[in-house]
Amino acid sequence: MEKIVIITGGSKGIGHGIAEVYHKNGYRVISISRTTLKKEYAVEQYPCDLTDLQQLEKTITEIFSHLDKTNTSILTLFNNAGSLGTVNTLENISAENISNTIQINLTAPLVVSSLFIKFTKGWDCKKRIINISSGAAINPYGSWAMYCSTKAGLDMLTKVVAKEQKKIKNGVKITSVYPGVVDTDMQEEVRNTSKENFKSVQRFIDFYEKGALATPKQVAEQIYELDMNGKLKNGKIIDVRNYK
Ligand SMILES: NC(=O)c1ccc[n+]([C@@H]2O[C@H](COP(=O)([O-])OP(=O)(O)OC[C@H]3O[C@@H](n4cnc5c(N)ncnc54)[C@H](OP(=O)(O)O)[C@@H]3O)[C@@H](O)[C@H]2O)c1
Repeated sequence: MEKIVIITGGSKGIGHGIAEVYHKNGYRVISISRTTLKKEYAVEQYPCDLTDLQQLEKTITEIFSHLDKTNTSILTLFNNAGSLGTVNTLENISAENISNTIQINLTAPLVVSSLFIKFTKGWDCKKRIINISSGAAINPYGSWAMYCSTKAGLDMLTKVVAKEQKKIKNGVKITSVYPGVVDTDMQEEVRNTSKENFKSVQRFIDFYEKGALATPKQVAEQIYELDMNGKLKNGKIIDVRNYK
């Protein structure tokens, strides 16, 4: 029987770490992102821009056409891909950027989760959704209006779906995970923002200079352990920093 992970944004950063760790532990891993890695081990890669909902729906449908419910023991979806969008106070952000950032961080997880639940209806395997959220869901940072709002929305998605699925026989279990501060392109982007546009920038420069950032591999291993040890409870919001 196959253990399978479907992950958005498995091409870089935390998502790449998760893809590697689950693959190393015997999972078939299927990643969805705009860029694909040339010399990638056995991770199956589907190029797709999460802001294109038609393409996204087509991609998820295509992925499921290659899965076999009679040969699957665990199927886990990671809604991991994310974007800060333009980092600036709200009045300085274009409508297009607001809309795109919401699509990547919130609409795509809603759509992918919806299709995941629909397509796995009646499957006997363990079914899980893990949403990679952020402490920004509960801490308002100036200049991160879309990021904070979409992560708060993602956590509410976790709570609502948990409630819906609890009533269903072998329903999907869903959890939000805050990965902490991790050394990825996204963090570099944060540090490279001007103080004028992002008042908290020094806090993130300090994290970096003090060596306080976790590596994607470390965080991925921690998430894997929490998953395997049954710590990712249905409907819960988990901060990995509380489990060190
Ligand atoms: N790094 C941190 O400190 C930190 C802290 C808290 C939460 N998080 C969360 O962790 C998750 C991963 O972040 P990260 O730090 O690993 O970021 P990252 O290194 O910038 O990677 C982002 C991933 O998302 C994918 N992605 C972005 N826009 C996309 C689009 N339009 N369509 C398809 N894929 C897209 C990227 O793939 P392509 O570029 O190939 O499309 C990439 O694989 C995010 O949800 C982020 O909010 C990160």
